[in-house]
Amino acid sequence: MRILRTVPEVRAVVENARRAGQRVGLVPTMGAFHDGHASLMQQARRQNDLVVVSLFVNPTQFGANEDLSSYPRNEQDDAARAEQEGVDILFAPDAAEIYPDGFGTSIHVSGVTEMLDGAARGPHHFHGVATVVAKLFGIVRPDVAYFGQKDAQQIAVVRRLVRDLDLDVRIEACPIVREADGLAMSSRNVYLDPAARAQATALNRALDAAAAQHESGESDGDSILSAARDVLDAAGVTPEYLELRDALTLQTVTSVEDDALLAVAARVGAARLIDNHILKRS
Ligand code: PAJ
Repeated sequence: MRILRTVPEVRAVVENARRAGQRVGLVPTMGAFHDGHASLMQQARRQNDLVVVSLFVNPTQFGANEDLSSYPRNEQDDAARAEQEGVDILFAPDAAEIYPDGFGTSIHVSGVTEMLDGAARGPHHFHGVATVVAKLFGIVRPDVAYFGQKDAQQIAVVRRLVRDLDLDVRIEACPIVREADGLAMSSRNVYLDPAARAQATALNRALDAAAAQHESGESDGDSILSAARDVLDAAGVTPEYLELRDALTLQTVTSVEDDALLAVAARVGAARLIDNHILKRS
C-alpha cells in the first residue's frame, strides 16, 4: 500500500491504472477506522482493481462547537488497518492540499439537506460533505464510491449531488456494521464512558422495537415512532430527532407505504450518536 499526500500523485497512479483498463474504487473516510470502515474497504476490494481510501478529517463539515479538534486521529493504526484490508492507495492529504489559499467554492445540495442532521447540525454540515466528496470524485475519478448506510442522509445527499452534476460515478451503499450488542460502530464511540456506552445501546434497541411493530403489521407512523420513543425514555435518552421519512426523498411520512427511513440522533454522554433502520414496504 502507498500513502500519498498530494493531488498530482493520486492522479498519476489512477491515470496509469485507468489506461491499463483497471476499475477504480474509492472509499472516502475521516479515519479512526473500525469494522464499519473495513467493510467498505472489503467491498471495494472485491469489486475493483485499484482501491483508493481517502483519510481526511474535513474541517468544512464541522460546526464551530463541534468536535473537529478532538476528533480521533491515528494515521499509523489506520494505515495498518487499510493495508490489512488490501487497500492500494491511502490518500491522506493535509488541509492546505484540499483547501488551498483562495479556495472559494461550496456545493449546496437542497431538498435532502434541510432535515434530520442538516437541521440538527446546521446547513454547513452537508455543504462541507458535498464539497469534499465532489473534490474527491474530481481527484480520484472512481468508477464506484462506497458509503455506509449508517449515514443514510449522507448517501441521499451524495446521490443527489451525483445526479444533479452528472458525475460519472456509481454510488454503492453498504450495510451498517454493529457491535455485538447492536450499537452501530462509529469513530465517535470512543467518547463514551462505560455508563454512556451501556446507555448507547438504547438507540438500536429503540429502532428494533419500532421495526418489530412494523413487522407485526403496524404501518402507522405515530405508533411505530412511539414504540421507539418508549425504549429511549426507559433508557433516559432524549433524542435530538426521531423521525420516519421516505427512504429516497427524505420527506416526512405518516405511514409506511414505500421503504421508510427510521432515523434517530441523540447525545449520550460525551458523544452525539446517529443510527437508522430501513422499514421495508409491506
Ligand atoms: P466517516 O465518518 O469516517 O465514515 C466513512 C464512511 O464509513 C461513511 O460512508 C460512513 O457511512 C461509513 N461508516 C461509518 N460507520 C459505519 C458503520 N458502522 N457501518 C457501515 N459503514 C459505516 O462519513 C464520513 O466519514 C465523511 O462525512 C466523508 C464521507 C468521508 C466526507 O468527509
